[in-house]
Amino acid sequence: MTILHIDSSISGENSASRAISRSIVDQLRHWNPASAVVTRDLVSDPLPHLTLDAFADTSVLDEFLQADTVVIGAPMYNFTLPTQLKAWLDRILIAGQTFRYTENGPEGLARGKRVVIALARGGFYDQGSPASALVHLETYLRGIFNFIGIEPEFVAADGLNISPEQRDMSIKQALGETVRLAA
Ligand SMILES: Cc1cc2nc3c(=O)[nH]c(=O)nc-3n(C[C@H](O)[C@H](O)[C@H](O)COP(=O)(O)O)c2cc1C
Repeated sequence: MTILHIDSSISGENSASRAISRSIVDQLRHWNPASAVVTRDLVSDPLPHLTLDAFADTSVLDEFLQADTVVIGAPMYNFTLPTQLKAWLDRILIAGQTFRYTENGPEGLARGKRVVIALARGGFYDQGSPASALVHLETYLRGIFNFIGIEPEFVAADGLNISPEQRDMSIKQALGETVRLAA
């Protein structure tokens, strides 16, 4: 099994999404010791904004297509995703490769992959909460992976900027979830 591990937080060692995505990968490797891990850090090794010329280079798409499982660390920035992660998505949503348009509408072509996303958010976005209308990070990522034929799984650490106690509790809970998820 090949695991592609993507991170996009700018916060280095203090990053919750990095800690959770690392734990997911560790848990997956625990259950599949023979798996190979390919790491792509979109902060230390950023992809430039998309250009027409960039479509000629399919290395990022190929890396995605070759992975069986993709683990993504996704912090919420300004209610959506880091632009570093958007630049990566811009390279994997390619007509004819990961989706196509048919007479019956769009069809995802990347079926069969497992995508697990570690969300880290400063606030709370549960249904009914004051900020629930701004839950764009999760809905966007679900929508975009559904579009290419994948139902992503999420592990979320929320309320990270509410208080240090809340942060510790949310991260601990999310790390616990990664054990269940991989098993
Ligand atoms: C530039 C920036 C923008 C942010 N915007 C939001 C936001 O819109 N909503 C929110 O709930 N938290 C926001 N936060 C808080 C982060 O989501 C939170 O700190 C989270 O822990 C980031 O993930 P990380 O720890 O993996 O870096 C923002 C943080 C930064 C640095």
